[in-house]
Amino acid sequence: MIDYSTIERIITAAEITDVVGDFVSLKKRGVNFLGLCPFHNEKTPSFTVSPSKGIFKCFGCGKGGNSVNFLMEHEHLTYPDALRWLAKKYNIEIAETEESAEELQHKNERESMMVLNEFAWKYFSRMMNDSEEGRTIGFGYFKERGFRRDIIEKFQLGYSPEQRDAFVQEALKSGYKQEYIVKTGLGIEKNDRFFDRFSGRVMFPIHSLSGRVIGFGGRILRSDAQAAKYLNSPESEIYHKSATLYGINFARNAMVREDKCILVEGYTDVLSMHQTGIENVVASSGTSLTEDQIRLIKRFTSNVTILYDGDPAGIKASLRGIDMILEEGMHVRVVSLPVGEDPDSFARSHSSSAMLDFLKENETDFIRFKTKLLLEEAGKDPIKRSQMIQEVVRSVAIIPDRIERTVYLQECSSMLGVDEQTLFTEAARIKRKLWEKNRSGPGGRSGEQDYSPETYQPRQRQYDHPVDAPEPDVMPGALFETEEREIIRLMLNYPDKIVIELPGEHKDEVIPVTVMDFFLQEMETDNLVPENPLYARVFKEFQEKWGTPGVNIQTMLTNSQDPEISHLAVDLLTPGYQISKIHEKGGAYVRSEDQIIKILAPEILASYRSKKVKQMISVIDDQIHGYQGTDDDVLITGLLEDRRQLEELRKAYSKELRRIII
Ligand code: CTP
Ligand code: MN
Repeated sequence: MIDYSTIERIITAAEITDVVGDFVSLKKRGVNFLGLCPFHNEKTPSFTVSPSKGIFKCFGCGKGGNSVNFLMEHEHLTYPDALRWLAKKYNIEIAETEESAEELQHKNERESMMVLNEFAWKYFSRMMNDSEEGRTIGFGYFKERGFRRDIIEKFQLGYSPEQRDAFVQEALKSGYKQEYIVKTGLGIEKNDRFFDRFSGRVMFPIHSLSGRVIGFGGRILRSDAQAAKYLNSPESEIYHKSATLYGINFARNAMVREDKCILVEGYTDVLSMHQTGIENVVASSGTSLTEDQIRLIKRFTSNVTILYDGDPAGIKASLRGIDMILEEGMHVRVVSLPVGEDPDSFARSHSSSAMLDFLKENETDFIRFKTKLLLEEAGKDPIKRSQMIQEVVRSVAIIPDRIERTVYLQECSSMLGVDEQTLFTEAARIKRKLWEKNRSGPGGRSGEQDYSPETYQPRQRQYDHPVDAPEPDVMPGALFETEEREIIRLMLNYPDKIVIELPGEHKDEVIPVTVMDFFLQEMETDNLVPENPLYARVFKEFQEKWGTPGVNIQTMLTNSQDPEISHLAVDLLTPGYQISKIHEKGGAYVRSEDQIIKILAPEILASYRSKKVKQMISVIDDQIHGYQGTDDDVLITGLLEDRRQLEELRKAYSKELRRIII
């Protein structure tokens, strides 16, 4: 851990033009610098660097951030590694903070396990190369399967001898504690006996992103129906199967270079692909994909090509988990191999270029692939067809990008021979259902609502895609997007500009209220918290840090360790990046924004409040509707009274809004 004051020193020292300038050639343009964006292909420069704000922003692809973000993005570094990079550049010595005894113990434990794993893979490798048994059985196996020596070495493959306790004895003799041998799963304790997990298997070390061995897969050599073909290390402090992708450390650079990740099922598929020269390959190791794995891929590319076995089971497997990838905004393609082939066998019988050609020719967009597959399956059966349409539309409905969604729905309409409008309606229905499910999830407040404006608590919901919020008529949560974003933007850009001057205790005395105080106080009074969780997080930062001596709110947020916060701050601080639609229609303003802040801030607040009340009213209306026909007059009367009060409030806000605008 790098201590906070060092982080501050590093960030202060880092000169954005200097850091970016190491990778991009920049030209001065006014107060800013301009260059060709390194994150997407462009011919005319739209990549801007602002030395005064310490941030960069590309108007073409939208990427932006501070020096640290730049390095994380450009060099694929983690946050601490980006800081270390900068520290080195600016000759700042890093003081790693003292860790608590518990932290230290955890760290030591993890470290001990990694060190043991390193000892283990070297042992297995030595056994395969130097022992008679290993050479004949282990190496012989890989050789027979056609793996080259350089691939065997690169992937650090090995052999675990037949003798039941060969490894554990060797490890104990070399001073490794039994505790860690058990925790890594390399050894198993049973009835006072201590023996190897992997004896008699060929060994595939599993690496972390940074290339350290965190676990093993061991393949049996006999074709023995009793024992599992592969044994894997158990879950541990360092090995989380669901967050690991086999081969990620060898694939990461190629994934960025090719802007694509090829996803296969097994260890040997990864090996064979590498052997034929295709390196942007990772394996999910037999299970269906998890969210953690998808996020891991997304750090390097948003294009995934799934290459599974050509048998029906393989194809079915490729359908699972894909909705999750789509939901992440990634682009998914599928290639089915000829029946009976897996990537391993196919790669061994084809040259690299033949394989690449095959991939190129057979890559099918996932939605089209799924539609075609299901269409064939359903045939003419009307019930099956309607189920199938639902399934396809579901996959489309969760795609975060609206334009992409539209294109797909149009295309599916012609593929399925179903009216476009029907598909759009169905997609909207599915989205609403998903939204309702989210809402009633943890922290949601479906059922009962609190209508009183004093105690009204907006519900906290998880958005997966806060900024690209879906259409308001379908997703009521996005209703406040414009206002909430604008409020956060004003608070961030003009924290200490004066909004109003309140009369003080003495005659002639006035108390100026700043933008920050204005929104903090007004929103706190009404118990309003932004619904969008990202804005809510920023708002909380404002509440906690505003007024702390020496804290500059803007730098604090652009340098936030939370990448979403710093990204948002950069967006909002970039001039002209997002012109508010609200005050555009308020009239033709000629003055600069900070002059009209006195109008803007109260206006946006009134508009926000008015919408909130309107939403509460519509919730009440739904309830009233629901109770109609029952005899619960007392309840309906109560609801009607609530409604009347809210209407009053709404009128008051509208009046306020008109007063401000006029
Ligand atoms: N797997 C596993 N445990 C099993 C079977 C499979 O963990 N009992 C995982 C392994 O990661 C394996 C992947 O699922 O690599 C794919 O399984 P499979 O296709 O059966 O194996 P292959 O990778 O084709 O292995 P091989 O070519 O050696 O048969
Ligand atoms: Mn195989």
